[in-house]
Amino acid sequence: MNFTNQFAELLVEVLNGDLEKEEIRLMIESPKRKELGDMAFPCFELAKLYRKSPNRIAQEIAPKIQTAIFEEVVAVGGYVNVFLNKQEVSTKVVNQIISQKGEFGSLEIGKGGVVTIDLSSPNIAKPFAMGHLRSTVIGNALALISEKCGYQPIRINHLGDWGTQFGKLIVAYHKWGNEEDVRKDPIKELLALYVKFHHEAENDPTLNEQGREAFKKLEDGDQETRHLWKWFRDESLKEFNKIYELLGIHFDSSDGEAFYNDKMEHVVELLEQKKLLEESEGAQVVQIEDLPPCLIKKRDGTTLYATRDLAAAIHRQKTYQFKKSLYVVGNEQTLYFKQLLKVLEKMGFDWHEGMVHVPFGMILKDGKKMSTRKGKTVLLEEVLQEAIDLAEQGIMKKNPNLASKNEVARQVGTGAVVFHDLKNHRMNDIEFSLEDMLRFEGETGPYVQYTHARACSLLRKGGYQENLGEKKIVDPEAWPVISTMMIFPHIVERSMNEYDPSKVAKFVIELSKAFNKYYASVKILDSSMIHTRLSLVCSVKLVLREGLRLLGIEAPEEM
Ligand code: ARG
Repeated sequence: MNFTNQFAELLVEVLNGDLEKEEIRLMIESPKRKELGDMAFPCFELAKLYRKSPNRIAQEIAPKIQTAIFEEVVAVGGYVNVFLNKQEVSTKVVNQIISQKGEFGSLEIGKGGVVTIDLSSPNIAKPFAMGHLRSTVIGNALALISEKCGYQPIRINHLGDWGTQFGKLIVAYHKWGNEEDVRKDPIKELLALYVKFHHEAENDPTLNEQGREAFKKLEDGDQETRHLWKWFRDESLKEFNKIYELLGIHFDSSDGEAFYNDKMEHVVELLEQKKLLEESEGAQVVQIEDLPPCLIKKRDGTTLYATRDLAAAIHRQKTYQFKKSLYVVGNEQTLYFKQLLKVLEKMGFDWHEGMVHVPFGMILKDGKKMSTRKGKTVLLEEVLQEAIDLAEQGIMKKNPNLASKNEVARQVGTGAVVFHDLKNHRMNDIEFSLEDMLRFEGETGPYVQYTHARACSLLRKGGYQENLGEKKIVDPEAWPVISTMMIFPHIVERSMNEYDPSKVAKFVIELSKAFNKYYASVKILDSSMIHTRLSLVCSVKLVLREGLRLLGIEAPEEM
C-alpha cells in the first residue's frame, strides 16, 4: 500500500507540476517523532524556486491537500506534515492484502528483464564452507526479491571446478591417496590430501611445479587426469546437493569454471584483436589504469580464474541478454571484480554496466578468517543437521502430536541458520557462533515462523472465513501492526535497490513484534469483533509468510 505515492500525486497537483512525481516521492520523509505525523514533505528546495520562505510555502500547501485517507495536514517548520486517518487506512490496507494474497508488495520495476545471479559457487574437493553459505542464502534471497520486483532471475552456481588446485590434488592423490578412502568420505579425504599437499610443499617446492604440470595436462585433455577430475567433481557435487536439498535451493545452471574451458580461446582472440594483451614476465596480461594488471594466461599457457570469468560473462550475456548480472561473492574479491569489469569495458561491451559485484563480509572464528588450507573450517552440513535436531527436540517438548514433525523440524532448523545470516547487513563480518545460529528466541527466524504459526492457529480456532463479516478495522491497538505492514512494498523496493535482504529480515521481525503486542493487548477470539480482528490476523499471516518466502525460509502452519 503506497500512501507516499498518493501524497506525491496530490502534491504534483498542488504544485502545478513544478516538481515531478518521482522527485517528490523521493523527497517525502517519515518524521523523526511519531507525534509530528506519518509523512512529511520538506519545502526547503522549493524556497529558491518560489522565492518564499519554506514555512510560507508549507502553510500555503497544507490546506490544499485534501483526501479521506489524511486526517490532518499541518505546516510545521518548513514541512507539510500529514496524519493518516487510521481507520480509513487500516481498513484499506487489510482489505488490499487479503484480496491480493501473496501478491501484496509485488512490483513491476523489473518488467520481465533477466537478472543472472552468480551465487553459492563452492569449490570442488573442498568442504562447503560458511562463506559459501552466505553467498547461497544472500544470492537466493536476491533472486526471490528480484522476482518479486518483476525480474526473471537465473540462478547460476559457478562451481570452482577448474584451476591449479586440481593439479595439486591429482598429484596428492597419486602420492598419498587411494580409491577406497575417497569413496568412503570424499570431501574429508580430498581435503586431507589438499592439506597434506600444502604442508609437504612447504619443504618441497617441486611439488607446486608438479601440481602446475598436472593442471596443464588437465587443460590439454589428458584422459587419465580428466577421469580423476570428473570423479572428484561428481563425488563433491553429491555432497553439496545434500545441503541444497536441506535449504530447498535449486539452480538454473551449474556450469562451473570447467564449462568455459573451450570458450577461453575465443576470449584471448578477442583481447588480441583489440590489442589489449601485453606480455609481462612471460605471462599475458591486460593493463588497467590505476589497478594491478589482470592476468589472462600464465607463462606455461594455462588460464586463470579471470580468464574463465571473462568467458562466463560473455556467455551469460549471449545466452540470457541480462539486464543485470549479480555476483554474490565475498568482499575479499572486490578488487578482482573491479578488474574484471574494467577489462570488459575495454573490450567494448557496454553491457558491463549491468554487472554488479554484491560483496559480503567474512565469517570469523576468534576474530580471524576461517581457512581451508589449514583445515580449519566448520562443516555446514553438520551445523544444519544440529539445528534440525534441536528444532525436533523443541517440537517433541511443545507439540509431540504434530503431524509432519520431520518436515517442520527441517523448516525451522534451516530457517534459524538462514535467518541468522540474513538479518545482518551483508557487509558486516559475522563471528561464527553455533550457539547464536541455533537460537530460536529473540530476533530469529523461528520467532517469526512461530508468530506466523500462531496467526494460523488463531484463524483455525476462530473459524475464519474470508467473506464473513465486514472488514472495517476500528481497533486503535491495531495501528502499529498496520503501519508496519503497509510499508512492505517499500521494503521490497529498497532491498532490491540496495541488494540488501536484511531489510526484509528486519521488517518481518518488526511485524512479528507488533503483532505479538497486539495479540497480548486485545482479545481476538472472545470478542464481538472476532471477524474484523481475524481479518487483521489473516493479513499479518499473509505478509509474514511472503516476507519469509523472500528470504528463502518456509513458514509451517503449525509448529
Ligand atoms: N569459487 C569461488 C570461491 O569460492 C567463487 C566464485 C564466484 N563467482 C565467480 N563468477 N567468480 O572463491
